Amino acid sequence: MHCLDNYLEKLTTFRAADMSHSQTALVFGLGVIGGAWILTQGLTFLRVLASLFVLPGKSLRSFGPKGSWALITGASDGLGKEFALQIARAGFNVVLVSRTESKLIALSDEIKAKNPTTQIKVLAMDFAENKDSDFKRLEALVQDLDIAILINNVGKSHSIPVPFNETPEDEMADIITINCFGTLRVTKIVTPGMIQRKRGLIMTMGSFGGLVPTPLLATYSGSKAFLQHWSSALGSELEPYGITVQLLQAHLITSSMSKIKRPSLLIPTPKAWVKSALSKIGRRGGSPHYYYTSCPYPSHGMMAWFITCVMGVYSSWILGYNRNMHVSIRKRALRKAEREKTK
Ligand SMILES: NC(=O)c1ccc[n+]([C@@H]2O[C@H](COP(=O)([O-])OP(=O)(O)OC[C@H]3O[C@@H](n4cnc5c(N)ncnc54)[C@H](OP(=O)(O)O)[C@@H]3O)[C@@H](O)[C@H]2O)c1
Repeated sequence: MHCLDNYLEKLTTFRAADMSHSQTALVFGLGVIGGAWILTQGLTFLRVLASLFVLPGKSLRSFGPKGSWALITGASDGLGKEFALQIARAGFNVVLVSRTESKLIALSDEIKAKNPTTQIKVLAMDFAENKDSDFKRLEALVQDLDIAILINNVGKSHSIPVPFNETPEDEMADIITINCFGTLRVTKIVTPGMIQRKRGLIMTMGSFGGLVPTPLLATYSGSKAFLQHWSSALGSELEPYGITVQLLQAHLITSSMSKIKRPSLLIPTPKAWVKSALSKIGRRGGSPHYYYTSCPYPSHGMMAWFITCVMGVYSSWILGYNRNMHVSIRKRALRKAEREKTK
């Protein structure tokens, strides 16, 4: 009996020691994993801060010598107009492509008045029509030019947030045709020359709508997600030729597309946003996990970091927040339309 007691006591002690070893190992293992995770997140956050606030981008001049050109689509208004003004100020000649000729001519006059030596070519075309003849005219216009920079800026969103099932057919087709086909066809015209010269910069306007699924802007959101992947794939294909490709992520900016007039910390003017995009070429800003991509504007960059690194782009909270926001924008837009009808 005494022997059995002894044996049982030893067994219990042994198990307790054994348990405490495995528990210690488990706690240690979890501690190492947790520590490594915190360290990685901390380093990523530091990289984001450095990219947004400290490190400079590549200079525009490194993409083409004096006398070379920049082609900007959707150049007559908003961000495209700012890209044209700031790139011309940096000493590049510009090709301005957009829908409304009178606005292109007015912009051309404005650039000439500020930079008298800049050469300017304009082409009015409607990307929604996706006409071969328009793309042939564009090809003919640029074929003898050293296009060093392409800004794929032209884009269309829904006129107001709308449930997918109620989206008018023509709005759906225009968004895909302009945002996707237009961008692809212009890029195809420009890239052979860049490949031959072994240099160039291609920037394409993405959106937070392409980063995060956006209910009630489903078609626009899908078109920008398409551009996100297409541009990243292109970036990898063209890197060996010395060409820099960057998808630019942006949250809201004051413009006729956003219908927001008053700037704020989270909603910059096109001038401020384009300035930060052009000063951070080659940096990822707030998008550390997306190659060939940048979220350059500081407050947008911090939001992108929070969404991608902390919450996750498919988080149900983000999706729900986004849906509620667009449902309420739609309600306000419908009430405004009703008021205007009764005026
Ligand atoms: N504003 C924002 O909050 C925001 C946020 C994220 C991303 N983005 C992206 O940034 C880009 C520019 O947006 P934005 O706010 O500057 O827009 P915007 O102020 O409405 O300007 C759009 C420009 O594109 C041209 N355009 C529109 N439809 C066209 C068509 N069918 N054919 C040819 N040109 C056409 C317009 O020409 P006309 O002047 O002749 O109409 C105008 O020059 C878009 O790709 C947009 O998706 C904007």
